[in-house]
Amino acid sequence: MDKSKRTAIIAGNWKMNKTPKEAKALLTELIPMVKDADCEVVACVPFVDLTVALEVTEGTNIKIGAENCHWEESGAYTGEISAKMLAEMGVPYVVLGHSERRQYFGETDETVNKRTKAALAAGLKPIVCVGELLWERECNITEEVIARQIKLDLFDISAEDVKKTVIAYEPVWAIGTGKTATADQAQEVCSFIRATLAKLYGEETAEAVTIQYGGSMNDGNCEELLSKVDVDGGLIGGASLVAAKFQPIVAAASK
Ligand code: 13P
Repeated sequence: MDKSKRTAIIAGNWKMNKTPKEAKALLTELIPMVKDADCEVVACVPFVDLTVALEVTEGTNIKIGAENCHWEESGAYTGEISAKMLAEMGVPYVVLGHSERRQYFGETDETVNKRTKAALAAGLKPIVCVGELLWERECNITEEVIARQIKLDLFDISAEDVKKTVIAYEPVWAIGTGKTATADQAQEVCSFIRATLAKLYGEETAEAVTIQYGGSMNDGNCEELLSKVDVDGGLIGGASLVAAKFQPIVAAASK
């Protein structure tokens, strides 16, 4: 399968930014700017913004995502949100295993795996984030780290469900630092992710999976990154918070 047959996805990950009012303003500005996009456009927003985000984008080509979900359907988990709750709201996407959750909130590959299974069971499309620390890259173990994350995060998930899963390669050293991986570095790891998926789930599944790059992607570097054969889209932090910075990335993915 060639790249053009996979769904290109440009997703904003707003992180802990934008109040509901600010979310409404940003999405309202963005809607006309990306209406002719030839790729999937997604805004992953804080839980409290979901209602307004779904309302404002109804009938448009912008899809909405959450930034996490719990693995149980309900129960005594104060502060958590279940995949079922998101699905009932009509939220199609959810970011899981972001490095900030791994780094600050004790997320492990085991919990990412549980969350991914729950998201898929509820009919959501998970965007599962993987990526190496700078120190791991310097020690030359990037591929070992990524292979381990892919194996564990997707453990016991069927090939059919893996096809519905988006993988975001986000080198931790490139997130919010202004240091982007070069397009060749991004391609190298995204291609390694596809090869790992092929070993685990077969060639056909691996070819169908959308693999995004994330980490300081912006209007200046997106074109080169997105031109690579295994980079099917982007997961964008900082540049997704300003419509005029996000739109050129959507445009680059639409070419
Ligand atoms: P930045 O684009 O701000 O580096 O963030 C990337 C990211 O973490 C997206 O999930």
